[in-house]
Amino acid sequence: MDRRSFVQGTAGTVALLSLSPAIRATVRMRARKIPSSGETLPVVGFGQSPSFREGDYDSARRLLDVLLEKGGRFIDTGARSQLVHGRYMQENDAHEKLFLAANMRTESEQEDLAYLRKSLEIQGKKSLDLVQLQRPVDFDGQWRRLRRWKEMGLTRHIGIAVSGERYFPMIESLLQSGTADFVQFNYSMLEPESGERLLPMARDKGVAVVINRPFVNGRYFPLISDKKLPEWAAEFDCDSWAQFSLKYILANPAVTCVLTETTKPHHAADNLSAGFGRLPDDKTLLRMIELIQSF
Ligand SMILES: NC(=O)c1ccc[n+]([C@@H]2O[C@H](COP(=O)([O-])OP(=O)(O)OC[C@H]3O[C@@H](n4cnc5c(N)ncnc54)[C@H](OP(=O)(O)O)[C@@H]3O)[C@@H](O)[C@H]2O)c1
Repeated sequence: MDRRSFVQGTAGTVALLSLSPAIRATVRMRARKIPSSGETLPVVGFGQSPSFREGDYDSARRLLDVLLEKGGRFIDTGARSQLVHGRYMQENDAHEKLFLAANMRTESEQEDLAYLRKSLEIQGKKSLDLVQLQRPVDFDGQWRRLRRWKEMGLTRHIGIAVSGERYFPMIESLLQSGTADFVQFNYSMLEPESGERLLPMARDKGVAVVINRPFVNGRYFPLISDKKLPEWAAEFDCDSWAQFSLKYILANPAVTCVLTETTKPHHAADNLSAGFGRLPDDKTLLRMIELIQSF
């Protein structure tokens, strides 16, 4: 890079950082690559909110509008939630804009295949974006099926979606096998264990990582409800406790996307804002974890 472009680039960065949060929101959300396919994904997505699971279309539509307005794309779906997502994509011609993860959770090949074909019909896609094995019971058999379905072109990516340390050895051996496009597991300041082994390994092996439970199944918010956000959070463009947790997670470069769950559009906007602006550096990450663990 020559001196002129360097100076212009630096000036551009400084100018961007000095913008108000409202103006910064017009800049695109940070995105990271899915190593196996080279596609990019914006770093904050949606989990299975009750509004989706319960098929409350009006509430779901408001949340999905916010997701698209903020430049988000990834949604973790289930049997019922994909009905609202399918309808929304149809009404808004949003099939390419949304990236949906379907979850397989039965032991029966027939049932799973029927569900997968039904999902293709509901989602109106030629090939599913991602199929994840959830709650594995017969891992080897189920994983063979997922690989076959990918070979058949029924899905473009395959992965596993679990939560809890008991599954970590299974994820490690899957990462070693080199056959997964995605792995999904829990990671946060209150549950940092996967940061030690799984995240570095996923990065080495070139596997996309989706993080669940950023708010620890509801444990996070009661912990900080009467606490003031520290002023130094502004140093990494963080203006809420939700972003404090999400930016901690996103500071790890192995994380491709973090899932957030809410029924409220203003909470969705808050969570998605974590995908913009600066991220904490290593020194700040230690400060953040010390603070949260002191509560
Ligand atoms: N595959 C697996 O094994 C697995 C396991 C666990 C979780 N997950 C995924 O991970 C996702 C997220 O899990 P989680 O444990 O982080 O969610 P969670 O704690 O269960 O739910 C989020 C809670 O935080 C509140 N909230 C969300 N955003 C907020 C904000 N900005 N400010 C204040 N409150 C806020 C929500 O309430 P409001 O509705 O009032 O906003 C809700 O009560 C789930 O949706 C699920 O898809 C997957």
